[in-house]
Amino acid sequence: MGYDLAQEIRELKKKKNVTILAHYYEDGAIQDLADHVGDSYFLAQKGQQEKADIILLAGVVFMAESVKILNPTKTVLVPDINAGCSLVDSSPFDKYYEWRRKNPEAIAVTYINSSAEVKAISDVIITSSNAEKIIHAIPRERKILFGPDQHLGNYLSKKLNRPMEMWNGSCQVHILFNARRLHELTMEHPDAVVIAHPECEDAVLKYAHVIGSTSRLLEEVTKNPAKKFIVATETGIFHQMKKARSDVQLIQAPVEDKGCLCNDCPFMKLNTLEKIKTAIETLKPQVHVSEDIRKKAEVSLERMLKLARGESVQWPEKFI
Ligand code: 13P
Ligand code: SF4
Repeated sequence: MGYDLAQEIRELKKKKNVTILAHYYEDGAIQDLADHVGDSYFLAQKGQQEKADIILLAGVVFMAESVKILNPTKTVLVPDINAGCSLVDSSPFDKYYEWRRKNPEAIAVTYINSSAEVKAISDVIITSSNAEKIIHAIPRERKILFGPDQHLGNYLSKKLNRPMEMWNGSCQVHILFNARRLHELTMEHPDAVVIAHPECEDAVLKYAHVIGSTSRLLEEVTKNPAKKFIVATETGIFHQMKKARSDVQLIQAPVEDKGCLCNDCPFMKLNTLEKIKTAIETLKPQVHVSEDIRKKAEVSLERMLKLARGESVQWPEKFI
């Protein structure tokens, strides 16, 4: 029998009581190995509920930090500690804090794609799965600061008819989709349903029939009887889409430069089976969040979880 790395990891994770959570943008082989696969909201929920002593998060570091914040007694591993996110990079703590301090009366609504430190100075966290419900729950008279993703923020602001002051971050992967070329593609394939993640620019979203989180886009491909989809998000999700619907044609939305694979997320794709095996063997790299930051970030993440479940929350009067 040949060398089966996935099988070796399965045995190792059983022996060490490790649960693997994976995001839809990971390689198919990693998704197939995981105990649970989902979007960033699902991964935070699962991570909080997890009973195993060790959780390996195959995704990016902010996702693993959210698990550590919500379930602090667990050992939280990542395959590669350099798996960052351009949204985290575009919202450094000092600058974000300055913005927050200039607007003490506002409610800071922060995308989960942010550092633990930025979460700690936010009032509530959102993901693209639950943002609409959460923003609806914020009293109309309160000013909203939204960050770090301006495109998700602009999409929500327009859809909910809710003005928000926006941070100017963006996802380096989703902003590469090109509206002009997408338009040409829709002309070539008039029968295709266009589905897009809200991190795309407005000019791209204009062509989308369905806009939503990774889980929402997967749901659309699973349930819509159409036979062709143009997909404006990271290619990792194609794995579950193909599993759910082997009968459909999936076409990735185009980027400006025809030859490039630059709408693969370079951070998500840092993770490999080899690195997962090493992380479980050595229990490294681990994600750590200082207790002071963790407690504050937990408040904003817990507000997200409560509001998403339909419960009510108290809003702070002022940022202090
Ligand atoms: P989802 O919450 O839709 O999974 O998105 C996470 C992400 O990083 C998209 O780029
Ligand atoms: Fe961050 Fe974009 Fe990668 Fe998602 S796809 S993890 S937003 S860089």
